[in-house]
Amino acid sequence: MKRVVVLTGAGISAESGLKTFRDSDGLWEGYNIEDVATPGAWESNPELVQDFYNQRRRSVLEAVPNAAHYALAKLEEKYDVTIITQNIDDLHERGGSTKVIHLHGIITRSQSGIKANLTYPINGWELKMGEMCELGSQLRAHVVWFGEAVPMIETAAQICAKAELFILVGTSLAVYPAAGLINYVPRNVTKYIIDPTIPTTTNNRMVEMPYKATVGVPMLIDELMENDV
Ligand code: APR
Repeated sequence: MKRVVVLTGAGISAESGLKTFRDSDGLWEGYNIEDVATPGAWESNPELVQDFYNQRRRSVLEAVPNAAHYALAKLEEKYDVTIITQNIDDLHERGGSTKVIHLHGIITRSQSGIKANLTYPINGWELKMGEMCELGSQLRAHVVWFGEAVPMIETAAQICAKAELFILVGTSLAVYPAAGLINYVPRNVTKYIIDPTIPTTTNNRMVEMPYKATVGVPMLIDELMENDV
């Protein structure tokens, strides 16, 4: 089966009701991202950061996958599909996709405050202060903050290097190292870009599809299911 690699960002979940980061004047749910998504924020105001992610988790649990998530799951019937997502929601999984790499973590899990790869499932939406990991440190949301390492980036780069077809959906390509992944995709591989605002990037063989995810993704997937590309 042909190897398809899909890199997704906040735009694919926008129509499920989850806000993107950079579409509303730099503020995200009323916060500067840096005030809630950095190790410094956690050190100086852990309650605020915990509460912020608890609210985000509640929104994620209330959201449902949309036509774009479902279409990508359907693509597995004919292709070997790996999704690399920058999103911390679990909508790809709930949409039925089976190979999903979360570059920036996943909000339905918690992580040790001192050992990033020590993670646990969270029951419900609320992670409380006082809930500890087995090493005795306060649990936080399993998300990669600004200034932290992105442990999955090497794996993701290797997968991109083996792509035979590449699809980019709903990302501004503003945040590295994720934004650099497209450069690992071989030059002769076709790269579809689905986003109402096509992000600035230089690469070979790009096909721009300036549509919302729920329109553009099913359109492309129908085409890929019907024709061999
Ligand atoms: N369908 C498809 N794309 C959309 C839609 C939609 N309905 N609505 C908005 N978009 C696009 C925007 O045009 C934009 O290019 O989604 C993109 C959202 O960009 P960002 O808000 O920058 O989100 P993302 O690229 O995922 O951000 C990357 O930044 O703060 C960090 O860790 C966070 O993973 C996140 C990373």
